[in-house]
Amino acid sequence: MTKIDVLLGLQWGDEGKGKIVDVLTPAYDVVARFQGGPNAGHTLEFNGMKHVLHIIPSGIFHQDKLNLIGNGVLIEPRIFRQEIEGIAEKGVDATKNLFVSKKAHLILPTHRMMDAANEQAKGNSKIGSTLKGIGPAYTDKIARNGIRVGDTLASDFRERYELLKVQHLRMAQTLGFDVAAFRIDGMTLDEYENVWMESLETLKRFRFVNSEYFINQCLREDKKVLAEGAQAMMLDIDFGTYPFVTSSNTITAGVCTGLGVAPTAIGKVMGITKAYCTRVGAGPFPTELFDETGRRLCELGHEYGATTGRPRRCGWIDLPALRYACMINGVTELYVTKPDVMNDFDTVCMCTSYEIEGRRTDEIPFEYNTVQIDPVLTSFEGWKQELQGITEYGKLPEKLQRYLAAIEEQTGVRIAAVSISPDRKDVLFK
Ligand code: GDP
Ligand code: IMO
Ligand code: MG
Repeated sequence: MTKIDVLLGLQWGDEGKGKIVDVLTPAYDVVARFQGGPNAGHTLEFNGMKHVLHIIPSGIFHQDKLNLIGNGVLIEPRIFRQEIEGIAEKGVDATKNLFVSKKAHLILPTHRMMDAANEQAKGNSKIGSTLKGIGPAYTDKIARNGIRVGDTLASDFRERYELLKVQHLRMAQTLGFDVAAFRIDGMTLDEYENVWMESLETLKRFRFVNSEYFINQCLREDKKVLAEGAQAMMLDIDFGTYPFVTSSNTITAGVCTGLGVAPTAIGKVMGITKAYCTRVGAGPFPTELFDETGRRLCELGHEYGATTGRPRRCGWIDLPALRYACMINGVTELYVTKPDVMNDFDTVCMCTSYEIEGRRTDEIPFEYNTVQIDPVLTSFEGWKQELQGITEYGKLPEKLQRYLAAIEEQTGVRIAAVSISPDRKDVLFK
C-alpha cells in the first residue's frame, strides 16, 4: 500500500498551491481536495492561459489523471457549474475524470445568506469572510443538519432542503437581517434558488462515490495520490488565529478526516510559503507592512484575492508562524514561491522571532489577536536581479540562495523547489 502525499499552505492562504499542484500532477495518478470549498481560489497559468479554480482540484487540466472532491469539501452547485463550464471552454471535459464524494456537504443559497447575516451582526469584528457560505455550511454539518451530495438523490431531498432553508430564514430574522434586500450576484434569494436547483443537475452528471473506499483502493493499487489543501495553516479552525480563521481543519490532520485515510497512510507533506507573506480579510498579521514596501509587494505581486478581488495585506515572511506550521503539519519539504516579486528590493527582511511586552518569544501566543506583537527582523541584501530565464536552482543569485538557506535553517526543513513566476514552467527543483 502506497502513501498519500499532501500539499498545503503554511501562511494565510494564496501561497501558490494551485500552481504547484498543477506542476506536480504529472507525477501522480489522483489529485484530491480534502477541505474548504469555493472560498478557495487556486490560480493556474500555462500556455499563456490563466485559470482560477475554487472547488475542482488543480490536477484537472491533466486529463489522464483522476481528481476527487473529498467528503471534507463543501460544494456550492452553481459555483461548481460555473467552474465546469469555465474549464469546458478550455477544452476540458471533467465528467470523465472528476469524482465527487457522496459525503461532501452542500452549500445552500441560504448558507450564503447566513454568511452575510453573521458578518453584518459582527459589526466591527467582521472576519472578512469570502461570503461563500463556508461558516454556516460547516456549522450545519457539525450540528448534524447538513445536506450531503448523496442526499440529492433521495426522494425526500426537497423536503430536507426546505426545512433547512426555513431554519436559516428564521435565524436571519432573529439577527435583523434584511432578506428581501439580499442579493447573490445581483439575484434575489428566490431567483438564486432556481439557478442553484438547475445547477444541481450539472453536479448530478458526475460520478458520486464512496470516496473513502475510492481513495483507499487507489492506495492499495499503489496509485500515487496527492491531497491538495485549501486556505492554510494560519486559517485553521483549531490552530489558526481564531476567530479570524476559516471553518475547517486546513492542516495535515484534515487529510485524514477529509478523505478517510489513516494517519499512518500520510507520506510526504509539502508545505508552501511565499518568500514574503500576505493575508486577506481581518485578523492579526505581525509582519504586515503599512508603508511603501507593503504597497510595492501588493502591486508587484499582484496581490488581489483570486476569489473576491480584495487587495491582500502584505508583509515580511514570518518564521515563528512558519515553524509553527512545520510543527503542526509535519512538513517534510518546503516550496517557496514568488521571490521574483522582490527582485528590485535593496533589502529583504525576515521575522525570526516576536517581541511581546518586552519579551522575546518564538512561539505563537494564545493572545495572538489581543497583544501587540513586534516582529524581530533580520535583513538581507537584495539580489537585485531579474530571475526570468533561470532554469536551475543553483543558478539563482547567490544572495537569494542565502535568503532561502536562512529559511531552511530557521525551519529545519529543506526546500524542495522555488517558483519564480506564475507560469507552470517556472519551478526550479533543488
Ligand atoms: P493559492 O490559493 O495558494 O492557489 O494561490 P492563489 O492562486 O490565490 O495566489 C497565488 C498568486 O500568485 C496567483 O496569482 C499565481 O498566479 C501567482 N504565483 C504563483 N507562483 C508565483 C511565483 O512564483 N511568482 C509570481 N510572481 N507569481 C506567482
Ligand atoms: P486559498 O485556498 C486566503 C480567509 C477569508 C477570511 C477567512 C474566513 O485560495 O488559499 P471564509 O470564507 O472561509 O469564511 O473566510 O479566511 N480565506 C482565505 N484567504 N486564501 C483562501 O483560500 C481563503 N479562504 C478563506 O479572507 O479572512
Ligand atoms: Mg487563493
